[in-house]
Amino acid sequence: MSYNIAIDGPAGAGKSTIAKKLAKKLGYVYVDTGAMYRAIALFLLREKVQPQDTDSILAKCTGADVTISYQDGEQIVLLNGENVNGLIRTEKVGNMASNSSAVPAVRDRLRSLQQELAANENVIMDGRDIGTCVLPDADVKIFLTADSAVRARRRFEELAAKGTPEPLEKIEKDIIERDARDRNREISPLKQAEDAVLVDTSEMTIDEVVEAILEICRKKGCI
Ligand code: DC
Repeated sequence: MSYNIAIDGPAGAGKSTIAKKLAKKLGYVYVDTGAMYRAIALFLLREKVQPQDTDSILAKCTGADVTISYQDGEQIVLLNGENVNGLIRTEKVGNMASNSSAVPAVRDRLRSLQQELAANENVIMDGRDIGTCVLPDADVKIFLTADSAVRARRRFEELAAKGTPEPLEKIEKDIIERDARDRNREISPLKQAEDAVLVDTSEMTIDEVVEAILEICRKKGCI
């Protein structure tokens, strides 16, 4: 039997940073589902599909075969066999992912892959619909959020540190737009599962968030 921890929440709430740390501490496999949506988005961008062009997304997405492997504990996303980890972390790919992930055929392609991973291993999986759709029976469900201004500031600092700065106002506007799209889509919208614990990280450090979630895991018997 395997334990599953689901972490959902809006863009920039710190899901992947926190989930990676927790996975290391617990010896679980970290599954980043956003990276899978990003890989399909990269494929669509390469095919010159426009983010709003639902018909083309539907027609072309079947050409994207996404699989996952692990190297030294790090998730590698393979798009038609190509390691695309270094190509999917841009705002352009993120925006395309937010649009294309609203198309049911795109979600159908990834949901079974995510469920298979969780069936065989102890996983911490992060995304938007993990607690509500992908792993409705997860042992622990966390809804991680933070104020949009705080999320924008964190992203601003991250981009500046990477040497690819963007204006703070633009980042916050993009984050608010992306949240609205992810929350309001018809299929598997970003939503807190009824049995998820809300963790607002606006005024917490990374270590405090990790410790708070570990405490929730202890109470649920996952540790
Ligand atoms: O978490 P992220 O920023 O890498 O995700 C990119 C986009 O992918 C996000 O805006 C919405 C979509 N996504 C989704 O619809 N469902 C998931 N489980 C994960 C991501």
